[in-house]
Amino acid sequence: MPTNFCSLADVPNLADWVQLAQQFQQDPWQSADLGRRKTLGLFFFNPSIRTRLSTQRAAQQLGLELIVMNMGAEGWQLETKDGVVMDGDKAEHIRDAIGVMGQYCDLIGVRAFAGLQDRSLDYAEPVLEGFCQHAGVPILNLESATQHPLQAFADVLSIEAHKTKSRPKIVLTWAPHVKPLPQAVANSFLQWTAAMNYEVVVTHPQGYDLAPEMMQGVRYEADKHAALEGADFVYAKNWASYTHYGQILHADRQWTLSAKDMELTDQAYFMHCLPVRRNLVVEDAVIDGPRSLVQVQARNRIFSAQAALYQLLQD
Ligand code: CP
Repeated sequence: MPTNFCSLADVPNLADWVQLAQQFQQDPWQSADLGRRKTLGLFFFNPSIRTRLSTQRAAQQLGLELIVMNMGAEGWQLETKDGVVMDGDKAEHIRDAIGVMGQYCDLIGVRAFAGLQDRSLDYAEPVLEGFCQHAGVPILNLESATQHPLQAFADVLSIEAHKTKSRPKIVLTWAPHVKPLPQAVANSFLQWTAAMNYEVVVTHPQGYDLAPEMMQGVRYEADKHAALEGADFVYAKNWASYTHYGQILHADRQWTLSAKDMELTDQAYFMHCLPVRRNLVVEDAVIDGPRSLVQVQARNRIFSAQAALYQLLQD
């Protein structure tokens, strides 16, 4: 089986990976020949701006050729269930399509969000796992049903560049949204920041507990204001309920991150992965303020992708 980058579990030494990405921040073109005569295929089952563009840029900086396909708009509708009679609207089985893609590419990146209907199915990662099993080439996770490791890696790089304490306090605070969103960003952010040995606190309304395996090294604080006290970094993010899977239980605007909330912190930096619903997730005054890191995070997506691709090419 080829080596993949699907989650933190695929990172044997996080400190080394952070250092590698920091080297690419300093000198993006230092390995410009590594990917010569190799092709990276990027397959998107869901929309993207940052992931698509940053991974393309990272690939260019490693000398890779690119194939990019928006599966929803440009490809056949794919059947993902095994053993079904394909007499509906799905023209091709994903097993067959993945086998084909694997022959055209030396590396594959795939984005496939959670369906948010069936928790067991989503947490089994059928599309990402299907690529890992059937492509025959290394797989890069561009955000799957339950994980967004390239985002969390970029978030860690952003914290490392701005922290003034060896063990900063990082708060992930749930925020309202009009649509049910997956838990992938929150899951990966907690896992990666806990692995960095930061002080990690999550706060959310009742019913928004994340999967227990995401909470290792993380403290839950029910009171949002208590959680924010003394924070060095505050990450606002919506996710749909894990326990009442995929449901929106709460639309309380008290959870919108405000400038007043930020006064409780130790002049914390504000973080969000983008895209963000302004004045629903976070007030304009916070995201447009001098302590907002959202553009830094977006830039670091290039270097997290470059470091991950570099490691896959080495393997
Ligand atoms: N943060 C992030 O993954 O952005 P996109 O969905 O635009 O790729």
